[in-house]
Amino acid sequence: MSSPLNRAEAFCQRFGLRVPILLAPMAGACPPALSAAVANAGGLGACGALLMQPAAIAAWAADIRSTSNGPFQVNLWTPDPAPHRDAAHEAALRDFLAQWGPDVPPAAAEATPPDFAAQCEAILEAAPPIVSSIMGLYPPDFVRRLKAKGISWWANISTVAEARAAEEAGADVIVAQGMEAGGHRGCFDAAKAESSMVGLFALVPAVADAVSLPVVATGGIADARGVAAALTLGASAAQIGTGFLRTPEARLAPAWADALARTPPEGTAVTRAFSGRTGRSIATAYTRAAAAIVPAPYPVQRALTQAMRDAAGKAGDIERMQAWAGQSAMLARAEPAGDLVRALWQGALTLLGS
Ligand SMILES: Cc1cc2nc3c(=O)[nH]c(=O)nc-3n(C[C@H](O)[C@H](O)[C@H](O)COP(=O)(O)O)c2cc1C
Repeated sequence: MSSPLNRAEAFCQRFGLRVPILLAPMAGACPPALSAAVANAGGLGACGALLMQPAAIAAWAADIRSTSNGPFQVNLWTPDPAPHRDAAHEAALRDFLAQWGPDVPPAAAEATPPDFAAQCEAILEAAPPIVSSIMGLYPPDFVRRLKAKGISWWANISTVAEARAAEEAGADVIVAQGMEAGGHRGCFDAAKAESSMVGLFALVPAVADAVSLPVVATGGIADARGVAAALTLGASAAQIGTGFLRTPEARLAPAWADALARTPPEGTAVTRAFSGRTGRSIATAYTRAAAAIVPAPYPVQRALTQAMRDAAGKAGDIERMQAWAGQSAMLARAEPAGDLVRALWQGALTLLGS
């Protein structure tokens, strides 16, 4: 069994990092300046491209390349099967949502995410050093084209079975997402997202034993103790999402950033009420009330809640905002991202006895 620091060093060398601290890809919360700050401090930048049109993906990559020489990953969800539509159910949901925001017209449900194939072409064109998948595995042809361009494929997984499938499909790195994680859970099968909740302390060693690829740990890591623990458990690097959301570079809505600071681990909730896919957010009046409804499938629920989410954002109303948060939200620090990366790694080195 290799030592945590040797493992981390080998990983850093392979991917051009100085420290094994990675910004998590976060759709809608990954401005290039945040990635540049993390990459310039020796870590890995990240772009959550789910909601970005091809031109925006190209612009994001150009932006970080103009402000950092450091490596970065671009992340894309694999598409879900077409959702099952139920007009009567959607009408009931629109009535429910009208109690929480503006009226929702029937046409709102038709909004569709950007085209996956076009996003893949934009990513191949932008040629980031690393592309990461979540919610499933990439089509074999896309994997072949990534590899032909020398782009590494990192696969997010949430169970040991998913890790094995990703290794089999040719992934270069396994990103093990514990159920503590903020934002959407990366389960391959949306229907199993609540029933297959595995915590990071159990997931990382089990995945490290099951596959022969490097493992990145993510979910609930937000201070040096978490980084040191992740490496000790068998990870080669620690990936942090919520822990970076209070940095000035994240430019998060102030109501959301402030709420993170007062959210204890038990103050988050796993809910499908924002998008139709299971994710962890701050527990709010909306998530509690929505526990009584059955949300529409992704991406219909996301489209139906758009007006409420926009209104909540404008009003700075945390009780209706889509305020994703991992269970370690309270540990997130409001300090520059580069300083945070350095402090996390220094602290982890001390804890690991180096
Ligand atoms: C605001 C937000 C948006 C996210 N969006 C994505 C995404 O688009 N793709 C993805 O793979 N993971 C996404 N995630 C999950 C993160 O990549 C990562 O798994 C998670 O942040 C780790 O847990 P932590 O927040 O406790 O650090 C998101 C997380 C947050 C908080």
